[in-house]
Amino acid sequence: MSYPRIAGLKNYDAFTAHLQESGIDLPSEAVVQSGADSPLAESLQVHGQTIGNRFCILPMEGWDGTSDGKPTDLTRRRWRNFGLSGAKWMWGGEAVAVRHDGRANPNQLVLNEANLADIASLRQELIDTHEEHFDRSDDLMIGLQLTHSGRYARPNEKKKAEPRTVQRNVVLDRRVGVTDDSAMFSDEELDRLIADFIDAACLVEKIGFTFVDVKHCHGYLGHELLSGVDRQGKYGGSFENRTRFLRDIVQGIRGATRNLQIGVRLSVFDFVPHCPGPDQVGVPEPDSEPNKVFGATPDGLGVDLTEPSRFVRLMHDLGIRMVCTTAGSPYYTPHLQRPAYFPPSDGYHPPEDPLVGVARQIAAVAELKRQHREILFIGSGYTYLQDYLPHVAQAVVRGGLADSIGLGRMVLSYPDLPADVIAGRVWQRKKVCRTFSDCTTAPRQGIISGCYPLDPFYKKREEHDWLKAAKKAVV
Ligand SMILES: Cc1cc2nc3c(=O)[nH]c(=O)nc-3n(C[C@H](O)[C@H](O)[C@H](O)COP(=O)(O)O)c2cc1C
Ligand code: SF4
Repeated sequence: MSYPRIAGLKNYDAFTAHLQESGIDLPSEAVVQSGADSPLAESLQVHGQTIGNRFCILPMEGWDGTSDGKPTDLTRRRWRNFGLSGAKWMWGGEAVAVRHDGRANPNQLVLNEANLADIASLRQELIDTHEEHFDRSDDLMIGLQLTHSGRYARPNEKKKAEPRTVQRNVVLDRRVGVTDDSAMFSDEELDRLIADFIDAACLVEKIGFTFVDVKHCHGYLGHELLSGVDRQGKYGGSFENRTRFLRDIVQGIRGATRNLQIGVRLSVFDFVPHCPGPDQVGVPEPDSEPNKVFGATPDGLGVDLTEPSRFVRLMHDLGIRMVCTTAGSPYYTPHLQRPAYFPPSDGYHPPEDPLVGVARQIAAVAELKRQHREILFIGSGYTYLQDYLPHVAQAVVRGGLADSIGLGRMVLSYPDLPADVIAGRVWQRKKVCRTFSDCTTAPRQGIISGCYPLDPFYKKREEHDWLKAAKKAVV
């Protein structure tokens, strides 16, 4: 690969020199401020609530729930780490299925009456931990992400795909073993699923979360519906039909809850599916259908925000003010979604400097923010910036290019990063995520997720050895 590793760029000047030489347009500031004057320490207001700073913890599941969808000690530890991070916005915690057939894996959390007290306790443990470290929690905003995994459902066995799709797709059908229309949701089944989302949202309100995220990203059901141009009936074809799912869920939640706010995590653009080329570098997969990609140019290889922007306007009209942005899918366009130097075991080597992937997401969000000033946008995909994450984050927030900086992988390896940055404490270089992708490779091999290379807790576990063996077997 012809681009340098971030860890090899020894200081900020080397980082910016590399950006310049490579023609990568990323905002950044040389000096990271701390204390009350830091742009990252500034609070935000939404729906009458204060969010205490500009860091947001992105949802991340750990494949570590019980078979009936309750959290385990591992899940609890992750949520406590979210609490001690110092970030004041918790976007969703992790994807929680609204019902069994929508689980992305047999260990995903499921929201139902039987699991309610356990899921409520996750939120409480996060708050308690936050209060222990930061004395207050009244400026903490916590939501829960609701999902149906659609095409990527594996509710019963780790290795057994049980996809539920909304339209045929040559490449994506092939990947999950769909050979006819039997996996396709009928309109009546989607009506029922909408009712399940609304019921789940009522439970979310009951256990005290401030908002619910109606997930529309990463190739899962809500996102796939947005690209359902070939689907017949009331959920497919026109923009109006493709967005009916969200409209009906929002309307239903408004009618059935009292104070629950609604947010959406959205893949704001996507490309055609990629696969390893002859040299293992990602290439567009032959037979891809670029017309079935939401937020892409006609060739399926560039960003076109026309429809995503229209969708944000629709959300605004529905009273939604919080959008957590992301891009692509971890299954078929991981280089867009979570830029990494080292691919997961089922991935491909990055077809571009991963910094290009970071810059692409930042630019797309900045454009949406420019067009929709009243929406609060959270940016994602910052982890690849590694030691320079705070420099870019500060410039993004100061420039109004996004309202909050989402942290995904970085918070697995370096949970207290937001607190360190805001307090101006010494940067803990040893904890910086180097995008080894083990937290993605592990679940792809049927092993719980975690930061095996850098988190001492996971380093010591037996799964560490299983993962090593699984990686060897793949090579
Ligand atoms: C282990 C793991 C689990 C994830 N689980 C979810 C999830 O449940 N819901 C979701 O919307 N995104 C999920 N993501 C995506 C992250 O929220 C985030 O968008 C992505 O990691 C890019 O941000 P980063 O560069 O800070 O890691 C997951 C990512 C990882 C690495
Ligand atoms: S396993 Fe750890 S170092 Fe590797 S990508 Fe995940 S969080 Fe980063």
